[in-house]
Amino acid sequence: MGGFYLTCAIDYANGDPHLGHAYEKIGADVIARYQRMCGNDVRFLLGMDEHGQKVALEAAERGVEPQALVDAVSGRFQAMWGRLGISHDQFIRTTSESHHVGVRALIEAIFARSPDDFYEKAYEGWYCVGCESFKQDNEIIQGKCVLHPTRTLQWVAEKNWFFRLSAYSERLRALISETDFLGPRSRRNEMLALLDQGLEDISASRSRFTWGVPFPRASSDGETQTTYVWFDALPNYLTATGYPADSYSGLWPADLHVIGKDITRFHSIIWPAMLMAAGLELPRRVWAHGFVLLAGDRFSKSAGVRLNLDGAIDRFGADAFRYFLLREVPFDSDGNFAWERFEERYNADLANAWGNLASRTISMIDRYRDGVIPEGGDSAIDAADEADFSVYHENMNGASGYMLHDALKAVWRAVARGNEFVDRQAPWKLATDPSAAAELDRTLGSLALQLARQCVHVAPFMPERAEELWRRLGAPGSVHDQRFASSGALDPAGWAVTKGAPLFPKEPK
Ligand code: MF3
Repeated sequence: MGGFYLTCAIDYANGDPHLGHAYEKIGADVIARYQRMCGNDVRFLLGMDEHGQKVALEAAERGVEPQALVDAVSGRFQAMWGRLGISHDQFIRTTSESHHVGVRALIEAIFARSPDDFYEKAYEGWYCVGCESFKQDNEIIQGKCVLHPTRTLQWVAEKNWFFRLSAYSERLRALISETDFLGPRSRRNEMLALLDQGLEDISASRSRFTWGVPFPRASSDGETQTTYVWFDALPNYLTATGYPADSYSGLWPADLHVIGKDITRFHSIIWPAMLMAAGLELPRRVWAHGFVLLAGDRFSKSAGVRLNLDGAIDRFGADAFRYFLLREVPFDSDGNFAWERFEERYNADLANAWGNLASRTISMIDRYRDGVIPEGGDSAIDAADEADFSVYHENMNGASGYMLHDALKAVWRAVARGNEFVDRQAPWKLATDPSAAAELDRTLGSLALQLARQCVHVAPFMPERAEELWRRLGAPGSVHDQRFASSGALDPAGWAVTKGAPLFPKEPK
């Protein structure tokens, strides 16, 4: 088994974590946990984007130093990721010295390898602080940036270092159209359309702010500019591996960048072009998820609508929140967050379907077999479950994209099958008939096996509840140490079950 290096967008350190941030980290965490259970050596990176004008302005508004602001914000993000059970291995902050060193080294590598790719140019245009970029006419409506209508556009004229992005059009087109570098398909089509319009060169430095990494080469007039946000932020994926120290090569390239659809262009066009210019390997894949909408407003990085994240987690617990978001919001497009739907899904899918299957099975094994799981099985159920689990894998391992909602649907088909099996077999009737003892064993044994397999497949989504059910089934070790390759050979006969409070209480506190 190989390594798997997975990253998320590093979040701007100018405000607290919200639903949009959480959705992405939960989705990526599911992929990280899944890859570990495939036996891969996973490296899962999260972090904070701590430089730039937006952060500096926010600090000024709050009357604190930028470093004090980002220290506080980064602490709150990390606490939230802990609360949500996110299993990252590393947390990078762009204010760290090692990141500064890596950014400068990458820019120097571009100067060395592709000397024509950086040039100085005077430039003027409308600049959006929200996007940290200049806006074209078609991105401005009624004098405002379409993505940040609450911000005021600034007319900016300055001389900057530019990066010759235009030189990479054809290589990028081949990358995006001929490989599975970028998904989902909607984003791939969007980027190909952008390439059809032609790429403009982009600026790589700024002169108006200093909260960032100093650009490593002075301009012709002697000025040291500040590295432009995207030349500072994107390299985090590389600097986190220790680049430019030699050891980086064992960790780079990334296998997957999980990002929001609003930054697809940066990750699938600008980032690979920078790496090509530096002669470095490209990430293998970029997956751009959509937005969680609340009453029609998107939870973008900067939109005003907020849902209290802690309150939403308090309601039914972190695992139910993880389940709901990934079941309800397709991982390739937008979806809604609505409290009503959350309650409905909690009750139907978790309390009634899975929770009930678990509690019925465990209490019948307790009652009819003194708590010890009998030998048993049902080949028709095993075959049908197997088919659902292979759909699960296709949607989890990237073969059909990262359609995490479809993976969950497949597992819940197995859960529904389990409940139908209980109703059909009516073990409580079998238990009254001594001649049906073998059939009762077979039934209870099959149910325990079904639950154990479900537990393994649910574990990436609801790590805490899956572990609890695993424990109650009397299964050995931790469910997170299970490997999918051997889950077909699971044999729960002889495990001693433990009854407990409902996994998903109907009337949560
Ligand atoms: N902080 C930026 C955003 O959230 C950039 C994130 S990803 C990066 O949109 F790679 F570009 F840093």
